[in-house]
Amino acid sequence: ILRSTLRWTWRVTYISSIAGFGYLSWIIYQSRNPVDQAEPDPSKKTLVVLGTGWGSVSLLKNLDTENYNVIVISPRNYFLFTPLLPSCTTGFVEHRSIMEPIRNFLRFKKAAVKFYEANATKIDYERKVVHISDESEIRGDTCATEVPFDMLVVGVGAENATFGIPGVREHSSFLKEVGDAQKIRTRIMDCIETATFKDQTPEETKRLLHMVVVGGGPTGVEFAGELQDFFESDLKKWMPEIRDKFHITLIEALPNVLPMFSKQLIEYTEKTFKEETISIRTKTMVKNVTEKYIEAEFTQPDGTKVMEQIPYGLLVWATGNAVRPIVADLMKQIPAQKDSRRGLAVNEFLVVKGAENVWAVGDCAIANYAPTAQVAAQEGMFLARLFNSMAKTEAIEKRLEALSEEQSKAAGEDRTRVLNDIKDGQKQLRRVKQIGPFEYSHQGSLAYIGSERAVADISWLSGNLATGGTLTYFFWRSAYLSMCFSTRNRILVIADWIKGTIFGRDMSRE
Ligand code: FAD
Ligand code: NAI
Repeated sequence: ILRSTLRWTWRVTYISSIAGFGYLSWIIYQSRNPVDQAEPDPSKKTLVVLGTGWGSVSLLKNLDTENYNVIVISPRNYFLFTPLLPSCTTGFVEHRSIMEPIRNFLRFKKAAVKFYEANATKIDYERKVVHISDESEIRGDTCATEVPFDMLVVGVGAENATFGIPGVREHSSFLKEVGDAQKIRTRIMDCIETATFKDQTPEETKRLLHMVVVGGGPTGVEFAGELQDFFESDLKKWMPEIRDKFHITLIEALPNVLPMFSKQLIEYTEKTFKEETISIRTKTMVKNVTEKYIEAEFTQPDGTKVMEQIPYGLLVWATGNAVRPIVADLMKQIPAQKDSRRGLAVNEFLVVKGAENVWAVGDCAIANYAPTAQVAAQEGMFLARLFNSMAKTEAIEKRLEALSEEQSKAAGEDRTRVLNDIKDGQKQLRRVKQIGPFEYSHQGSLAYIGSERAVADISWLSGNLATGGTLTYFFWRSAYLSMCFSTRNRILVIADWIKGTIFGRDMSRE
């Protein structure tokens, strides 16, 4: 009996491994060899989608492209998984691991989608056209043209807020795009190599090794945490001469960092930063930035204000979002938008208020939610459902029109059949029209704070769970891993984490 059981176990294992391997090969083959797509149908409405960020990509992922002539316009031909961007500044995650080429998934849509790598420079609402411009290095000049639309989705995100503070654009680094992370990574090593150059004065060494982050929101906090990790795990081991000189300061205008998190987590973050020796300067508002120092106004406990000069080597500016020029220009064209300041005011169906056939998603839309990836992704998904249902509604209405004509001519059994078809059609119409307004479901907020610790405010049952520490860090890791765009991204990120843990971060300066 034992021998026969073993034989059967072996056979089952063998056959299932072969089947599993065959299935995996088939999936890989399919993912590398997409089938031909239906060509876009010019008789259908043209839906133009601006941007390839969280909002637009979530829409495109869930949209049935057979219903529309879809055109996507963005200067970025990839989707960027922003939550792991701070890790790219130190090389713990390589930037290509969190980028997904837009064509990788558009090629798998039922009907083909056109993609133009270009900047939308103006939306002409009256004429229903988008002006686009492509500054290709290969052509050496700018190519500008127009794209007409029947329906438009604006998902261009936001730009970095500087509040008009002099010197910010010239001297600091932002953290929004891949290029920003690469610039920071190079600048960190530049500061360190220059600080250790022969015969540097102690003041200059101190300045170069002072890394200043302005903005105590999640971007600033996560970057400061990643940079401190880089220092603790790698820099101070390979360059012991900077051990006592490297320092990070986080500057925040408000009385505390991470204002969107619960009080307990704010305290936990501040305590962790203290242990990590990151200085937090709250109630400190940066007013001016020069090449080598910033000028900041500090409010003392008695309410008096003092100006201070803070020298820096690297300055990362993370003070939130501002409206993009293309969005501000569209707002000017629509009278109903005149009171909106932070972006396009939208109604509960994400229609731009005062406009017809124009929707907005993500950071450029103002719908009473925080400008986060979570909100943008849910908005994109909602719009896809809305557009799919609108297309179905139109198709059913057309069929019902045809049936009612048929009914007027039909007699006897034919008439009964047509009447039944009409009833079915009306039922279907009621069902597809049932889509309600957009409702955001908040899953929680997560932020990495360095030293393998994270903080999380998670919606739990009907309450809220505030937690911080190493366990939360593993939760943060698994949550972000599962949220990555594709299996390919997940594998690359895991490989980077393993590589970084075993070999350390790559300190070579590109
Ligand atoms: P984006 O994702 O910014 O995409 C905008 C798109 O529009 C881009 O493809 C851009 O190239 C394109 N575009 C720009 N200008 C034009 C133009 N003129 N014409 C055409 N296209 C244009 N949120 C979370 O919920 N969790 C997180 O952990 C988190 N971490 C973050 C970390 C960092 C470092 C940053 C910067 C943000 C983070 N966010 C996070 C916020 C989140 O990334 C944004 O809320 C989200 O990206 C907004 O999505 P969006 O589609 O509106 O804009
Ligand atoms: P933010 O708007 O959240 O925070 C910016 C901070 O900068 C504010 O606290 C503000 O008081 C401060 N500030 C502004 N001007 C200043 C000045 N002159 N001097 C000193 N401090 C100044 O911006 P952030 O962090 O860039 O985030 C943008 C959006 O992206 C937010 O909605 C955020 O929730 C989201 N995000 C979410 C993440 C997460 O969930 N883990 C990570 C990163 C961003």
